[in-house]
Amino acid sequence: MRVVLGVTGGIAAYKATGIIRLLTEAGHDVKVIPTANALRFIGATTLEALSHNSVDPDLYTDVESVKHVELGQTADLIIVAPATASFLARMASGLADDLLMNTLLATKAPILVAPAMHTEMWQNAATVGNVATLRERGIEILEPAVGRLTGADSGAGRLPEPDEIVAAALALAAPQDLVGKHILITAGGTQEPIDPVRFLGNHSSGMQGIALATEATKRGAKVTLIAANVSEPISAIHEFVRVSTAAELEAEVSGHLNFVDAVIMAAAVADFRVENTSDKKLKRSELGEEITLRLVANPDILAGLVSTINLEGLKVLSVGFAAETASNTNDLQRLAEHKLESKGCDILVANNVSNGAVFGSDQNSVLVVTKKGSVTARDGSKTTIANHILDVLSQEI
Ligand code: C5P
Repeated sequence: MRVVLGVTGGIAAYKATGIIRLLTEAGHDVKVIPTANALRFIGATTLEALSHNSVDPDLYTDVESVKHVELGQTADLIIVAPATASFLARMASGLADDLLMNTLLATKAPILVAPAMHTEMWQNAATVGNVATLRERGIEILEPAVGRLTGADSGAGRLPEPDEIVAAALALAAPQDLVGKHILITAGGTQEPIDPVRFLGNHSSGMQGIALATEATKRGAKVTLIAANVSEPISAIHEFVRVSTAAELEAEVSGHLNFVDAVIMAAAVADFRVENTSDKKLKRSELGEEITLRLVANPDILAGLVSTINLEGLKVLSVGFAAETASNTNDLQRLAEHKLESKGCDILVANNVSNGAVFGSDQNSVLVVTKKGSVTARDGSKTTIANHILDVLSQEI
């Protein structure tokens, strides 16, 4: 996505660097337009280096490319952060006296504005009026955070954290292609108890499943997230159920199957559980030098739900995951296609977990294969990967 980032002249201008980083790391093309006063606080060189794009806020250079129109028309999203009181006044008046103001008038892209200023300025009747005018025009304006300001004082007026700004902005630009769809997503790794303190588990953090739930929600879906042992914070999901074992996860999945349009099985489900768990903690002193744990197979939940979908003729799209230790991309594709067939699901997302990659990281690299024969590869943040999987899913749902 092409994101234009306007930076205006306030002390928080340096925080634009964090916003640029988050956007470029998520795979977006970022074009920064600082105002003349923003450049008193942060250098164009810094903005260029981080955004990997040239920074030239002069309205009267490259005139032949009509750059304010080009920037406005090609932007998928515009963020202004930090936005000063003066900027809010100029935007509310429709002024077009520099490249940023011209670009804002020449766009149809969603616009998110993140103001930052002293509390008195934020609460001044002029600013309050300008904010109300802009909101009436459909501009999304974040409330400033409360906390330490430039001097020793504190109050409302701090720029919200870069991750909050980026999340709010990306939500504005999300395609609404999953409106009216109910998607069940499993995340995390099941834990199979041995005794009340010990369990058999796996390295899954649940981050990819949570990213899928978050992004599907932004794209308009009603999402039920069944999370096995995740510690990541989860917010703004329609329905959220915590489970621990494969048996609990299976019960929740089958209880929802009749009400959903798609199931995404991102959870790492333990293939085996301990046959006889102990109610009491097993004591080292009583166990001797060796113990044998007898394991029995857990049901394959994905394969089971695919056969229920087929038997009952349900219109539910099924997406499976496969963590494979492949030696190269061809090998990964072969394994992915084999798993797609053996599980019988519509879409399979394979990732290469050789050398401990993926688990707990915010980056991922996947190959997505479908029953209809499409094969696509994606590298990037788990949010980028989630959106790619949802792009594939939304073509079929
Ligand atoms: O067979 P494998 O564990 O590689 O398959 C992974 C896929 O199958 C994932 O989508 C996972 O959620 C699902 N699975 C399952 N039940 C199991 C094991 C895996 O649904 N017992």
